[in-house]
Amino acid sequence: MTLQIDATRGLRIPAPHPPRRGAFLSFEGGEAAGKSTQIAMLREHLVSERHVAEDLVLTTREPGGTALGAQIRDLLLHGEHVEARAEALLYAADRAHHIATVVRPHLARGGLVLADRYLDSSIAYQGAGRALDPEEIGSLSLWAADGLLPHRTILLDVPTEALDDRRDPAGKDRLEQAGREFHAAVRQEFLDLAAAEPDRFAVIDGTLPREEVHAQVLASVGEVLALFDPTFEPAPPARHRDEA
Ligand code: TMP
Repeated sequence: MTLQIDATRGLRIPAPHPPRRGAFLSFEGGEAAGKSTQIAMLREHLVSERHVAEDLVLTTREPGGTALGAQIRDLLLHGEHVEARAEALLYAADRAHHIATVVRPHLARGGLVLADRYLDSSIAYQGAGRALDPEEIGSLSLWAADGLLPHRTILLDVPTEALDDRRDPAGKDRLEQAGREFHAAVRQEFLDLAAAEPDRFAVIDGTLPREEVHAQVLASVGEVLALFDPTFEPAPPARHRDEA
């Protein structure tokens, strides 16, 4: 028997759309751009100064926001060489599982998600850095995440040389070891993505003092924060670790 593949009936790429409930913010930028610091500062501001319930704010990351994702992260960042297409598929697999089991359930209850990296990282790193086709990588991620887009994406932009100075040369992971040209292409792709979607992106100069960056983050997320639901109910005890 021969395998018949009908090329007109391939992958269905869902139209990109923000969630119907809850609020979804992603943070992007190079390694050491200050994403996790800014996410922690935003969370602290919401909980301490605006008295938002802690359960309402989910901080998470890609890769590695689930137990399966933590294993994928280890393979990607601390393992052997991974071919570019395999790398793209592993990031997409991490994303598919993370979005379905962690992010969507939290949004569906009306919560706020603060994500340290999302699909723009794949487009920049695998699409531009690894020289695969950025549009194909974007489609792959949209398929993996069933079309989910953040309401707002904060891009912390830092020049490649400055990022290099911030990283510890001894502790660089597999992606951080990629050369300066790779990281320059990644930075440029992030800026191009932001220019193409000015309503979704806010670009902030990540070389500014962190309090100044924080003030700009607050200014750029104001209307999105109004979207989460103050009557939010925390999740019932999770059956699997991944569903927390
Ligand atoms: P981190 O250093 O921000 O934790 O991110 C982990 C690394 O994975 C970082 O070098 C960027 C890279 N990455 C990709 O190449 N593609 C992706 O889709 C994501 C989410 C991260």
